[in-house]
Amino acid sequence: MSAPSIGTPIGRWAGFGPYYAMFPVDFAFQVVREHCPEGGWIFDPFAGRGSSIYAAAAQERHGLGIELNPVGWVYSQAKLNPASQESVLRRLKEIGILARMDDRRPHYASPASFPLPEFFHFCYTARVLRFLLTARTELKWRINQTDATLMAIILVYLHAKAGSGLSNQMRQSKSMSPPYAVEWWQKQGTLAPDIDPVEWLEERIQWRYSPGLPQLQQADVLLGDTTKRTNYVARGIREGQFSSFRLLFTSPPYFAVTNYEYDQWLRLWLLGASPYPVASEERSRGRFQSKVAYHQLLQNVFSQSASLLHEDATIYVRTDARSFTRETTQTVLHDLFPHKQMLVKEQPYSKTTQTSLFGDKSDKPGEIDIILQPC
Ligand SMILES: C[S@@+](CC[C@H](N)C(=O)[O-])C[C@H]1O[C@@H](n2cnc3c(N)ncnc32)[C@H](O)[C@@H]1O
Repeated sequence: MSAPSIGTPIGRWAGFGPYYAMFPVDFAFQVVREHCPEGGWIFDPFAGRGSSIYAAAAQERHGLGIELNPVGWVYSQAKLNPASQESVLRRLKEIGILARMDDRRPHYASPASFPLPEFFHFCYTARVLRFLLTARTELKWRINQTDATLMAIILVYLHAKAGSGLSNQMRQSKSMSPPYAVEWWQKQGTLAPDIDPVEWLEERIQWRYSPGLPQLQQADVLLGDTTKRTNYVARGIREGQFSSFRLLFTSPPYFAVTNYEYDQWLRLWLLGASPYPVASEERSRGRFQSKVAYHQLLQNVFSQSASLLHEDATIYVRTDARSFTRETTQTVLHDLFPHKQMLVKEQPYSKTTQTSLFGDKSDKPGEIDIILQPC
């Protein structure tokens, strides 16, 4: 397997957007090359940060994904259609100026008066927090491509290990629980980095754009729940906007392992959600923690996706090797595609993950690839 070089425009954006349980870039590129003919369309109903769709668009294929979590969606918008460097830098400076003006407003006079939980004051300096609050209010990331690109870039660096982001020491892929993080920072004595966020981000933007912009084929990721958006996709196929899909390439959430809303709570806050993770955790617990609801989710998404596929399509699903997720996925796929041949490849974990930074030493059971091909 080989990933596109980071020195090329394609490679520079391919790994954009830290996201829990994302496809490795080389894997996504290889599956697309091997299982979809050039010019064909790829569908990903659980698109995450858009890895599969980007791999399609970068390799003479087309792609359409759907993603529920706005963090993954904003990343995919930026990588599939980055706004020009000039417009992103201009907008960054505008946000910087507005943040400094906010600074002079009385209610922002001291960090202690920001209406935010203590976590934020340990995580960021007052200057960075003012910048983030301004970006949160001003950037119209749902409707404006420049704002989406800048927001996605800020999200990348919102939290990371010391020296690599805007925050006090954190894991990059996953937001920590506030009490845990505050206690850890206090115990370790680490402080939020004292940086100028505009200058700091400007350097990263220049680095991101320095090889040039990637040349990509038509591709998009829709924001929303796949169980509610497939009618729109079916209409697009009927009207010639998309073709029926030659490859369904996806990775569903793993049962009882990850909660994408909770794990991204700090990035979701920047996109406008609550400054506390608990409320969002409650909302999505049902589907990933109840066996019946999880089965229903896979059943709904894959049966609706089946109607969008070309008769010779390949279905390629990477999922958790633990028994419930594995057996449910295999059963659902087998029942929906009885005339395709199913191959299951074990993919044991081979390397240390980012979770070690915050002390997660748990054994990982590995993943499996379920591949269904025409007989
Ligand atoms: C394992 S991740 C996919 C990661 C992706 N392969 C990547 O490389 O970024 C599963 C994704 O499914 C999304 N998801 C869960 N339920 C969904 C639904 N009903 N509709 C659309 N997306 C959903 C989650 O938000 C999460 O981003």
